[in-house]
Amino acid sequence: MASSGTPLRDERIAIIGSGQIGQSWALLFASAGFKVSLYDVNPENVTKAQELILQLLQYLKKENCLRGSLPVQVQYDRISKADTIDACVNDAIYVQECVFEDLELKLQLFADVDKHIGDNTIVGSSTSSMLPSALSKDMKHRHNFLVVHPTNPPFFARAVELVPAPWTTPEVMGRTRELMVAIGQAPIVLKKEIPGFVLNRMQFAIVGECYRLVKKGVISVDGCNKTISEGIGPRYAFMGPFQTAHLNADGFQNYCDRYGDIIYRVQQSFGPPEKMEGELVQQIQNELVKKVPLDKLDERRRWRERRMAALNKLKTELAQQGQNATDSGK
Ligand SMILES: NC(=O)c1ccc[n+]([C@@H]2O[C@H](COP(=O)([O-])OP(=O)(O)OC[C@H]3O[C@@H](n4cnc5c(N)ncnc54)[C@H](O)[C@@H]3O)[C@@H](O)[C@H]2O)c1
Repeated sequence: MASSGTPLRDERIAIIGSGQIGQSWALLFASAGFKVSLYDVNPENVTKAQELILQLLQYLKKENCLRGSLPVQVQYDRISKADTIDACVNDAIYVQECVFEDLELKLQLFADVDKHIGDNTIVGSSTSSMLPSALSKDMKHRHNFLVVHPTNPPFFARAVELVPAPWTTPEVMGRTRELMVAIGQAPIVLKKEIPGFVLNRMQFAIVGECYRLVKKGVISVDGCNKTISEGIGPRYAFMGPFQTAHLNADGFQNYCDRYGDIIYRVQQSFGPPEKMEGELVQQIQNELVKKVPLDKLDERRRWRERRMAALNKLKTELAQQGQNATDSGK
């Protein structure tokens, strides 16, 4: 029985691969009332995934962080196990692929999915690194294909990148965008594909510069972390770099007039990309394990989730009070 609020929807979503990301997608769609079919090449993984999803739902309820208004058992019951790819995808409006990051494996899978889907079914890949053109070039339904790249952990970080192949239709991009909004995610629509998409390009720029700064002896590992968590991070939780620049001077034009030369000069001193390997990697890890030992990573992930959930709650409350919580109007 559904409580008022979140509707129970008739549309079915197919999730292929029931690891960490497949479980997150299954939960996100179920919490928005969709029927979810979960398939894995190893059926035991689906059973394990269902157990973990139930545990996560119970944890979210305890922490008052459930999405939507459907009770735990109703959300859990929306997710069913599919025994074959065909059964998983055949009446689905949307397929989300979440198998290992292996090109050959994904190509084989999409060839199989292509045979069993309807002409209107959208296929999204969770890939972190592969271009949608490379994944879909041989598919009959390639116009319905895109990368739908979540941010980890997807339940707590709402950004999801929608990356088109050159042949993905605007209609498919639009429908996927609406679907992501319907499940409470924040779609970021790319106009064309590029290696690393957008989020990872930004993330790699930051981690790459931090690595160079530590290597040059400018700052400690802890100092780098603190610069983000106490400096750039609090602002970036509510607004991006362009909006920050706009506010940090009298508009973006004035920011560029004032700081453009300095920014250009500093950027020129960044140096080329460095491969993170060898002794320095070990040194950085040694610093990090002093605070979070390797056997406490899971505990610390839960710590991170609670904090991200609290931030999401604040943003939701601000939005309910009619105040925009972020510069994108959410
Ligand atoms: N973990 C992250 O932080 C993260 C973030 C964003 C995107 N991604 C991407 O999401 C995808 C899945 O990552 P993950 O971390 O969930 O991996 P995972 O290793 O946790 O799970 C992968 C699952 O896929 C299943 N699988 C393998 N081959 C299959 C097949 N042919 N058919 C059906 N199931 C199959 C495996 O049995 C396993 O259960 C990858 O492409 C990854 O790059 C991961």
